[in-house]
Amino acid sequence: MSAVLNCRICAGPLREFCDFGSQPLSSAFPESGRIGDEFFFRLAVGVCESCTMVQLVDEVPRHLMFHEDYPYLSSGSAVMRAHFERTARHFLETRLTGKDPFIVELGCNDGVMLRTVAQAGVRHLGFEPCLRVAEVASGNGLRVRAEFFDAGSAADVLAEHGPAQVIYAANTMCHIPYLESVFKGIGTLLAPDGVLVFEDPYLADIIDRAAFDQIYDEHFYYFTATSVQAMARHFGFELVDVERLPVHGGEVRYTIARPGVHRPSPRVATLLAEEESRALTGMASLEGFITRVDRARDELVSLLERLRAEGRTVAGYGATAKSATVTNYCGIGPDLVGFIADSTPAKQGRLTPGSHIPVRSPESFAEAYPDYALLFAWNHAEEIIAKEEAFRRGGGRWILYVPDVHLV
Ligand code: SAM
Ligand code: TMP
Ligand code: ZN
Repeated sequence: MSAVLNCRICAGPLREFCDFGSQPLSSAFPESGRIGDEFFFRLAVGVCESCTMVQLVDEVPRHLMFHEDYPYLSSGSAVMRAHFERTARHFLETRLTGKDPFIVELGCNDGVMLRTVAQAGVRHLGFEPCLRVAEVASGNGLRVRAEFFDAGSAADVLAEHGPAQVIYAANTMCHIPYLESVFKGIGTLLAPDGVLVFEDPYLADIIDRAAFDQIYDEHFYYFTATSVQAMARHFGFELVDVERLPVHGGEVRYTIARPGVHRPSPRVATLLAEEESRALTGMASLEGFITRVDRARDELVSLLERLRAEGRTVAGYGATAKSATVTNYCGIGPDLVGFIADSTPAKQGRLTPGSHIPVRSPESFAEAYPDYALLFAWNHAEEIIAKEEAFRRGGGRWILYVPDVHLV
């Protein structure tokens, strides 16, 4: 008998539609002597039949994912540095213009966005529960609390700093299963006319690109305008704007306010209508996604096996959290991909989660180019392909698997 599943937002019935099997923590890179200690869980996804929220079926405890050894640093990409600088300037010009404004960021990571705010002399506070990452931000002169944001911490911040005109979260809201506590905190901390702005991977882009590697432990929710509107209402707020963003393979930036305070942009109704007309979270859409994912898996594995049989060398590029799902779901280990190059110091010298492919520096990639490079960091394709131009000039080819398996 299958368990009764309930939506983490509205408690409505959750229908499971895909199962990627047993998967490791996507950011836990073991040392070679420690591969027996890894944590695994069942990576399955469901859709709420009531509010349409797409979400993981099993929740990984937050302290297993976000702790002092969390390796991800947001400033590793020049494109993302520029994106967050633009975002900060936008807030400074539009929302942080009153007397002594205050902005709070959830998941500020190494301070990639807040540093521009701080340089402008505007009051700010970042929440970053991963201690080493938070220390990078505070080392850059930012005001950071090394803790999880939730209802309790919001009350402390209100008492110490007063209300926030902007609460911002990039690639963080979708990481938080306990959003009821986060929204309670936002209700406490947000100024009466303040806004919550958050941006996360957009389910329509995930489906259209068959980007199944966006599904992993940390990505608990897969938002749409429809599900975010329902969620905002459920927690006593209103969705007032949406903006599609090209970063990280396609995201949407949602703006949420207290009800009746800001007039909703016509863009909200447009995106809601688009989602409805294509039945984005209907079974045909979700099952079509699974069919294309399985095809991509079969084609990728066949290609890698053929290259191995022909004696070609293949390395990976970008030991992303996303790559945990690809390597573990497709059964790709060091026999098919010799190593993965990655610029993150805390990943180098370690093994990829579950699939145990060695991670090395980008310099070791350049020292002896492989014949092929599997681009796991496909969301940074333009930046990486330009940076590693010499690889292609020397005859190397990139393998991509989004939106389908192809060579460039
Ligand atoms: N905002 C950065 C960006 O877009 O590159 C970092 C995104 S990173 C994928 C997600 C971050 O959210 C992590 O640094 C993690 O520690 C943080 N995080 C997770 N749960 C959180 C919570 N409850 N409150 C604040 N930050 C949280
Ligand atoms: P992300 O897709 O979650 O942002 O992760 C990107 C990973 O790729 C991260 O581990 C850093 C790595 N990376 C490089 O090695 N070189 C690069 O030029 C970029 C942009 C990322
Ligand atoms: Zn629901």
